[in-house]
Amino acid sequence: MKLDIDKIFDSFDKNNIFKDKTILQSNYSPSEIPHREEQIKQIASILAPVLRGEKTSNLFLYGKTGTGKTLAMRFVQEELYKRVKKDADFKLKIEYLNCKMKKVSDTEYRILAELVKKMGGDVPLTGLPTQAIYNKFIETIDSEKNLVVLILDEIDQTVKKISSDFLYSLVRLNSELSKSQICLVGISNDLRFLEELDPRVRSSLSEEEILFHPYNALQIQDILNQRAELAFKEGVLQEGVINKCAALAAKEHGDARRALDLLRVAGELAERDNSKKILLKYIDNANEKIEKDKILETISSEPKQFQLVLGSIIYLLEHQKNDLPVFTGEVYDFYQQLCLKNRLEILTQRRVGEIIQELDMLGIINVRVISKGRGGRMREIKMAISKEITNKAKEIIENSLNYV
Ligand SMILES: Nc1ncnc2c1ncn2[C@@H]1O[C@H](COP(=O)(O)OP(=O)(O)O)[C@@H](O)[C@H]1O
Ligand SMILES: [Mg+2]
Repeated sequence: MKLDIDKIFDSFDKNNIFKDKTILQSNYSPSEIPHREEQIKQIASILAPVLRGEKTSNLFLYGKTGTGKTLAMRFVQEELYKRVKKDADFKLKIEYLNCKMKKVSDTEYRILAELVKKMGGDVPLTGLPTQAIYNKFIETIDSEKNLVVLILDEIDQTVKKISSDFLYSLVRLNSELSKSQICLVGISNDLRFLEELDPRVRSSLSEEEILFHPYNALQIQDILNQRAELAFKEGVLQEGVINKCAALAAKEHGDARRALDLLRVAGELAERDNSKKILLKYIDNANEKIEKDKILETISSEPKQFQLVLGSIIYLLEHQKNDLPVFTGEVYDFYQQLCLKNRLEILTQRRVGEIIQELDMLGIINVRVISKGRGGRMREIKMAISKEITNKAKEIIENSLNYV
């Protein structure tokens, strides 16, 4: 036994593939950012007045995931800091917070406490009332003449997790400050986020807007080539590997993160196989693995009601003869039993219908509407994921619920 393990470690020691894997990780900042010159220039020119101590318009960056929003904004943040004059009569503070981060931004209190801490104030560990933490936040900003640029990445999450009132309070902050001023930069992957906001909040948050459009396959190739050169040992990429990653990621929606993940995971699979090269087949394997991880991650992070509906579908389909589909009505009946068993509220049939639609949109199930004559319609459901992933999904649901 011992010997086998040694062999595994030895072969990893002789790692054939990577020169520096961190280059492919998402927190790595590349020295150049191809195909985002326009957006970077726009951000820089909108924010430039902060170097003279002037408040700028609020700025809103939006576009699908992996289109370089965070990267571009962090880059401009660094560049601004490089230009700060030591003898200025104000302090420039550019604070970045990702609103998706667990534990830091789950509640209004946590977000504000985190921002107070970042700006050098101290917050008691025990929870203050909301108004008191707001006062503390304002007091910290206003303790000296500060110009604060507050970057809230994945800002749509605050509305999901807290409420839109939080954003309403934020956009009104300046009226409560006397010495200092604050500019907001909101970043969102959700293109429709703004539309759903109160018009007053919307117009204030998006005084300036910059769209990050998806990359095309050629642009993704450039991004990948630049990273691959630093990340991999020479000659380990089979011809066509970069093109294939770029093509898959472009099909996804021009997501550079997905492309980099594909390349990294393919490298890991090649390494595990003791292969000297990253062959094209490893890209396919990596794609499957990422797809699978993404689905399982979604299933485990969704609320219990979602899991109840999916659990019902999986159970019913498993007990169908000849792989026949199930119908929404049957799912609803079974779902109600599961709710009782788990002492969870029973949602209306309409709401369960919406969850079924969501499962369909996520590519977990396939829903087909068939008409039954005289305007009657039924929805039939099948799984859209493989047997193997379905079994994993079932495990997740079993661990979180009293399943069947
Ligand atoms: N133009 C680019 N050049 C180099 N790397 C990029 C570029 N755009 C995105 N990336 C890389 O792709 C990944 C996703 O980018 P990110 O800025 O996090 O996207 P978003 O915030 O829009 O979801 C990161 O690893 C980032 O470094
Ligand atoms: Mg981002």
